[in-house]
Amino acid sequence: AEKLGGPAREVKDLLGRLVERVSRGLETALGPFEVGQDPPEYYPGETCCGPRCSKVLLRPRTTEEVSEILRYCNQRNLAVNPQGGNTGLVGGSVPVFDEIILSTALMNQIISLDSISGILVCQAGCILEKLNQYLEERDFIMPLDLGAKGSCHIGGNVATNAGGVRLLRYGSLRGTVLGLEVVLADGTLLNCLTSLRKDNTGYDLKQLFIGSEGTLGVITAVSILCPRKPASVKVAFLGCETFQQVLETFSLCKGSLGEILSAFEFLDGDCMKLVQKHLHHTNPITESPFYVLIETSGSNVSHDEDKLNHFLEKVMALGFVTDGTVATDDMKIKALWALREHITEALTHDGYVYKYDISLPVEQLYQLVVDVRARLGMGAKNVVGYGHLGDGNLHLNVTSSTFDNSLLASIEPFVYEWAARHRGSISAEHGLGLKKKQHIHYSKTKEAILLMHQLKAQLDPKGILNPYKVLADRSA
Ligand code: FAD
Ligand code: MLT
Ligand code: ZN
Repeated sequence: AEKLGGPAREVKDLLGRLVERVSRGLETALGPFEVGQDPPEYYPGETCCGPRCSKVLLRPRTTEEVSEILRYCNQRNLAVNPQGGNTGLVGGSVPVFDEIILSTALMNQIISLDSISGILVCQAGCILEKLNQYLEERDFIMPLDLGAKGSCHIGGNVATNAGGVRLLRYGSLRGTVLGLEVVLADGTLLNCLTSLRKDNTGYDLKQLFIGSEGTLGVITAVSILCPRKPASVKVAFLGCETFQQVLETFSLCKGSLGEILSAFEFLDGDCMKLVQKHLHHTNPITESPFYVLIETSGSNVSHDEDKLNHFLEKVMALGFVTDGTVATDDMKIKALWALREHITEALTHDGYVYKYDISLPVEQLYQLVVDVRARLGMGAKNVVGYGHLGDGNLHLNVTSSTFDNSLLASIEPFVYEWAARHRGSISAEHGLGLKKKQHIHYSKTKEAILLMHQLKAQLDPKGILNPYKVLADRSA
């Protein structure tokens, strides 16, 4: 703690408090629990009180400070919970007992932007929306976008391998992240912060940390390839009578819009009712069982307009779409996107939310919602489906007035078994965190899980990094 210099006063003060705990005989920040011990039962809907509450929050500004903190914690067997914008949906960013929270909130500096290649290098705590604004002013955009953009950090995005609404066009972070700087559990600095499109020198170590949810290292800086800002962006919001028509629209859309298609999202009629009821949004088109949001991004306004108009004429003529509206100005585009992006918030106003994030072959995407709705009957308040249809990613959400154990027992493991039977994934983009870790076996073989445990043991032998997350206890 003494080595942390001037600007790190806050960190030093907090570490001081921690040292005090240590010198008073509180050897670990885990209260009565030891690293590796089973966490208490997870109570859905629980707020920060009782055991799930940290006493220490550290907000370093530099990679060196992160390294000092981890070295200190590793030596003393203190558990650490890395935290970005705290928008994660699987409980990975919050402590299980009283783990020390290591927040990247003050690590928010942009390091460089190459104005020719579009390669951005920045600290892990930069907020996604701020990065996008910075880039837009320089004629670039971030290759990812998601509803939590106003709060989530790029480090958190990489740590969860976040998908979002632009993945269809720009691909996963596994392709756009070019380099990472990571601090390992013992404080070792791993500098893989290259800015090269191609680098086949040995194993691609950065991939280990993408999607590792804070269990293998703390990401301190990111190098990412950013696309040029499109000159023309348009959004069409369409209504369909059946899910089959949604699929026909998607198929036609891929063929007709081709390279300018940048998002294909869907929501069902119940999602629309929830954003209308709880957030007072207005449905811009005739009420429909399904809605799709299609975004085009291109470099030539009239070319894109011709393509979109041609496509819309076709889907209308074929009867795939019953009504629709198109937006070309910023305000209307934002209003249409809000209908899709605000579903998560609307659901939270509906009661307790049971959230599922499933990857499936696109033709089967909505059948899961139909089956769960039939299974739960009147037992649930709402059963809704929405998501990134273009990526085969369904968000199935169920609500009830308050948390109900018997309802949960009717949903799980049914949903996981259904997904596994259809060769899907039980976590398409949100990760496993605390809430889903027990279900990893539905999507991964025992050999794969064993290798994950071996990698964890190699990189974090004392298990101080985000314990109780991602991997279930091996004896369980
Ligand atoms: P946090 O929530 O703080 O942390 C998430 C995990 O990453 C935790 O396990 C944490 O320990 C770890 N972590 C955080 N920072 C670091 C770091 N620097 N180094 C190592 N580990 C770290 N997700 C999607 O994939 N697609 C979506 O479309 C999407 N939309 C969303 C919309 C809303 C309204 C909300 C609330 C959430 C949404 N999410 C979505 C989920 C969430 O926003 C993403 O998982 C996001 O990437 C988390 O970033 P964060 O900075 O908030 O991370
Ligand atoms: C989304 O696509 O809106 C998010 O992943 C959030 C959610 O699943 O609620
Ligand atoms: Zn999503």
